[in-house]
Amino acid sequence: MSGFKVAEVANSKNDEFYTPAYAITPLLRHLPPPYSDRPISIWCPFDTEESLFVRIFRLFGYQVTATHLSTGKDFFSTEPPACDYIISNPPYSLKGEVLERLFDLGKPFAMLVGVVGLFESQRRFEMFRAHDFEIMYFNRRVAYFKSYEDPAPSLNPPFSSVYVCKGILPKTIVFEEIAKR
Ligand SMILES: C[S@@+](CC[C@H](N)C(=O)[O-])C[C@H]1O[C@@H](n2cnc3c(N)ncnc32)[C@H](O)[C@@H]1O
Repeated sequence: MSGFKVAEVANSKNDEFYTPAYAITPLLRHLPPPYSDRPISIWCPFDTEESLFVRIFRLFGYQVTATHLSTGKDFFSTEPPACDYIISNPPYSLKGEVLERLFDLGKPFAMLVGVVGLFESQRRFEMFRAHDFEIMYFNRRVAYFKSYEDPAPSLNPPFSSVYVCKGILPKTIVFEEIAKR
């Protein structure tokens, strides 16, 4: 975490937007089947039980641990549960810090982040240069929603979202088509 000014940017209200199903299901093509030879477990560290990451992965048979700031589980100080993958949409304002901790943890991960500014700092340049990683790029922009009670898209960012992954995709860049409904 050193070097990033977490306290200045944490809890930004811009961090409260939620991911629609169509942006989550493309990941399923790249995860092993949930019961191939043993259960596959996923930690969703920015997610309540309402999160569609949590609900979709459970629906497809994965074992999911959901943790979130609101239940006292700060990603940066929470000991990772035993898991095979770490997958979520992290707080926008903390994406550099989140990716840095994930690279340090060394587990396979996929994080949905805005592409704007992703590589635009010396610190991130050095972080990405130091690690192998993969990108999942979509044909359409993801529109997010603001309330689990009303999952109608309400936030259309003027930039693309991509998954930054490690140890999940078969090559450096994977292009996926999404069907927005
Ligand atoms: C962009 S939202 C995405 C929520 C959910 N992952 C989804 O995609 O629907 C990021 C969430 O992370 C939460 N959050 C912010 N800082 C956190 C932290 N340090 N540890 C855990 N959760 C955090 C925010 O309150 C917010 O609900």
